[in-house]
Amino acid sequence: MKLMNIAIDGPAGAGKSTVAKLVAEQLQFLYIDTGAMYRALTYAALTQNVNLENEDELDSLLEGIQIDLRHTESGVLVYVDENDVTELIRTDEVNKHVSLVASHPSVRIEMVERQRILATGSNAVLDGRDIGTYVLPQADLKVFLTASVEERARRRHEEQVKRGFPSEFEELKKDIARRDELDSTREFAPLKKADDAIEIDSTSLTIAEVVKSIIDLAKERA
Ligand code: C5P
Repeated sequence: MKLMNIAIDGPAGAGKSTVAKLVAEQLQFLYIDTGAMYRALTYAALTQNVNLENEDELDSLLEGIQIDLRHTESGVLVYVDENDVTELIRTDEVNKHVSLVASHPSVRIEMVERQRILATGSNAVLDGRDIGTYVLPQADLKVFLTASVEERARRRHEEQVKRGFPSEFEELKKDIARRDELDSTREFAPLKKADDAIEIDSTSLTIAEVVKSIIDLAKERA
C-alpha cells in the first residue's frame, strides 16, 4: 500500500489534536502535533527571557534546541532537549504568546522543514494550521475542522479543568478569538482552508463521528 499523509487543519480548539490522535491510532499512523512544536519553542523562549518580537533571537534559540515528539505507551510526550515539557506547553502563558512566535517567517521555515522530515517516509496524520496549504500541499487527504467559537472555548475550558489548570471561560473565548485572528491574518502561511480540503464543522458532532468520517475518507483514498 502506498504511504499516506493526512492533514488536519483548523482554528484553535476545534478538536484537531484529539481527532488526529484517534485517527492515527486507529489507522496505526504516526501522529505529528505541529502546534506542540510551536508551543515548545514558545515555552523555551519564555523561560530563557527571549524577546518574542525578535525574529533573529527566536531563530537562534530554535536552531540550538531539539524538539522531540516522543511516542510512548501513555501517549505523545513533548521534549525540549532532555526536558519533558508536555504539560508545561499547555498553560495560559504559552497560549497567550504562541501565535506571536509562530508568526515569524524564519521560525516557520525551520519548523516546516522539521515537520516535513518527520512526515516523509511514514503514514502520518499531521494537525496544525498550514499543513494542507503549505507543509504538505500534496497530502492525500486534507480536512479543515471547525466549530463555533463558543463551543471551542467550552471544550478548551473542560480540558484545562480536567488537567487541573486554572481556567476562565470568558478569557479562553477571548484568547481563542484573538489567536484565530492572528493565525488567519499573518502574512506567511496563514490559517486557511486549502481549496481541496474537506470541511467538517464539529460543533454538533461527537468526537467519534468526526473520527469515523475522516477514517472513511482515508479508506476511500487508500
Ligand atoms: O494547535 P495548537 O492550538 O496547539 O497550536 C498553537 C499555536 O501554534 C496556534 O495558535 C498557531 O499560532 C501555531 N501553529 C501554527 N501552525 C501550525 C500549528 C500551530 O502557526 N501548523
